[in-house]
Amino acid sequence: MANPSFYLGSWRAANTSTTNASTTNGGLARLPAHHLVTHGAIFGMTGSGKTGLLTVMVEEALSAGVPTLMIDIKGDLPNLLLNFPRFDASDLAPWVESVALSEEKTAEQIAMEQNEVRRNSLAAWNIGEPELRAYHEKTDFRVITPGSSSGELLHVLSSLERRSDRWDIDPESARDALSAAVSLVLRLLGRDPDHAKSREHVLLSVFAEARPCRGESASLAVLLEDLAKPPIEKVGALNIDAFLPKSERKALAAALNTLLASPTFASWREGATLDIGAWMTPQNGRTPAVILSVAHLDDEERALVLGVVLEEVLAWVRSLPGSSRLRALLVFDEVYGFLPPHPANPPTKRPIVALMKQARAFGVGVLVATQNPMDIDYRALGNAGVWCIGRLQTDADCARVLDGLSSMDIKGFSTATLGKVIKNLAPRWFVMRDVHARVGTILLQPRWAMSYLCGPMTRNEIRRAREMFGDDGAQDDAQKSGVVQHRDTA
Ligand SMILES: Nc1ncnc2c1ncn2[C@@H]1O[C@H](COP(=O)(O)OP(=O)(O)OP(=O)(O)O)[C@@H](O)[C@H]1O
Ligand SMILES: [Mg+2]
Repeated sequence: MANPSFYLGSWRAANTSTTNASTTNGGLARLPAHHLVTHGAIFGMTGSGKTGLLTVMVEEALSAGVPTLMIDIKGDLPNLLLNFPRFDASDLAPWVESVALSEEKTAEQIAMEQNEVRRNSLAAWNIGEPELRAYHEKTDFRVITPGSSSGELLHVLSSLERRSDRWDIDPESARDALSAAVSLVLRLLGRDPDHAKSREHVLLSVFAEARPCRGESASLAVLLEDLAKPPIEKVGALNIDAFLPKSERKALAAALNTLLASPTFASWREGATLDIGAWMTPQNGRTPAVILSVAHLDDEERALVLGVVLEEVLAWVRSLPGSSRLRALLVFDEVYGFLPPHPANPPTKRPIVALMKQARAFGVGVLVATQNPMDIDYRALGNAGVWCIGRLQTDADCARVLDGLSSMDIKGFSTATLGKVIKNLAPRWFVMRDVHARVGTILLQPRWAMSYLCGPMTRNEIRRAREMFGDDGAQDDAQKSGVVQHRDTA
């Protein structure tokens, strides 16, 4: 597709009501894919439909052949795996148990009802089984769950411990990725991870880099040996003992050894290689959709793992040739806490800010969503060209978003008028402003998602959803024969 556009739903003029069905409908809302090269931000209170809108955007990106990497904090993005290519109640039955319990009906009854709702709702947006099948057959989902075997495990230090061809093709980006891995190790040890200031970072990086440059891998065990018996005499102009005294090297080695012995840490060092270029490369003509789910990790672990993954995304983006078309999409739902305003600085912030500033030149769009507009760095969001604002409850939230939006031309609307519109939005309606569009600020109603949105999925459910569709994307025999396994409540 030369200039694909995303079918988001329908639109209305922003001065009309979203609760009054008779108000003039502007028609189908289409977003040219390349508009997302300058990124997007979605706001709205809980239940306003942000994840639904993100899901629709992802479905459209994948349908247009745009590889997508999604960061899942809450566990609901794996719903994208439930993209059943037909309308059959037996497909839904394993995923409706919680609804069934609350409504005192059997899962089969609820599944039949929901199957009809899905069929009729999608029909209203002109989506039938042929469209579902085309999407299903075109996409290749992976779920990566660092530290958990429910999805694919992730080797979070692979840029350090597994030598890649990148050292021969693009040593600069390989070095950046290695530096991020060294920072992660130092963070886990509670030491200064700053690559520019920390002597421990410099020393470990010097030790580590020597190996891939010689064609070898640099494991943590090897770094331990290097700390005990340094293979070099000088670091910069200083003798190694003057740079980092032996006693400090010994303390660092002891801490590293404790980390190496930890079983939790061991599960972070096995599984898929952190290679964004490979993740985003289509296999067998299908568009890659990678969901990196960290819902099972605690806050600190999430920030650490996502920091290293996002640094890797940044290193990959910088290695790409320039592009004005949308080449790939990075989606971050629930960005709250990962892109906070100054002075907070979690490891995720630097790479997200850098991606929002630089990735556009390389055709990589970033799409973030949050229900908490107060806690976000608006300098980074100032780079976002597409804003979708769902209902916001508090005046403070509303004022904050409007303030952020004020750098854009909101065409013919005072912020006060727009504030009133936002506070009166019905659920699943958004005020949308796209700086690239000739049409001004509009109201957007996202279409019904093709994926079955059953809410946050547990680790067991993720495992089951992956098994259901297997690696080749086909439903397995148990599903085809209608055998129903029920949703676990863990
Ligand atoms: N496009 C859609 N298609 C089908 N159902 C949708 C869509 N958008 C929202 N929904 C339904 O509405 C519910 C609430 O929407 P959603 O989860 O997107 O809200 P949210 O703004 O992400 O809330 P939170 O901030 O709590 O995550 C979903 O569970 C889903 O059932
Ligand atoms: Mg959500």
